[in-house]
Amino acid sequence: MNQDDLKKIVGIEAVKYIQDGMTVGLGTGSTVKYLVEALGQRIKDEHLTIIGVPTSNRTARRAEQLGITVKDIDEVDHIDLTIDGADQIDEHYQGIKGGGIAHLREKIVAINSRKNIWIVDESKLTKQLGSFPLPVEVIPYGSQQLFKKFKKRGYNPKFRMDGNRFILTHSKNYIIDLGLGKMGDPHKLAKNLKDMTGVVEHGLFLDLVNTIIVGHEDGPEIIQA
Ligand code: A5P
Repeated sequence: MNQDDLKKIVGIEAVKYIQDGMTVGLGTGSTVKYLVEALGQRIKDEHLTIIGVPTSNRTARRAEQLGITVKDIDEVDHIDLTIDGADQIDEHYQGIKGGGIAHLREKIVAINSRKNIWIVDESKLTKQLGSFPLPVEVIPYGSQQLFKKFKKRGYNPKFRMDGNRFILTHSKNYIIDLGLGKMGDPHKLAKNLKDMTGVVEHGLFLDLVNTIIVGHEDGPEIIQA
């Protein structure tokens, strides 16, 4: 079984948590892709009434293709449940997200959801966060100055580039990935980053998740965080 098979297992498992009539936040990424496909199938087979709130244009497009009704976050009254992937999860169930540059929308949807489920293959679990670079969305204006500050603090920053072009987020911002190696106190780091003018949002998702579904060779493991 490869990593993709494990992503599929958790995508299919997670769709069971969606009930008729729910408004569901739909995350972004290669794991969520399987969830969205499974949800499209359930809606078709069971004639469910579901509203999806996508966290990226990618997810919105795929959901619409599959016949899922999609609404913007500001068009819905509430979000019952959000299901999303993650880049890294530590033993205290804190996470890094944003590998796919969607963490700003993902966080807005997550904090406005009654419940959050993360779906990951087992490679995403770690004792301590940091070996996965931490994405930080910054406004372009003054971003070189922020970059220098990150460097001075020893954050080992790197602009996310496509050749010699800056990759732009949904909100037309830049991403700076921090190569931290090991992260001491994620709450402290999150606060430090939030306090820096020009930082729009970082990829630390702290104290947010309720349930984690982990894909293993022998099936999905459910963790209540
Ligand atoms: C998108 O910006 C990310 O937060 C994704 O949710 C995360 O990178 C997980 O993606 P995969 O499921 O593709 O690993």
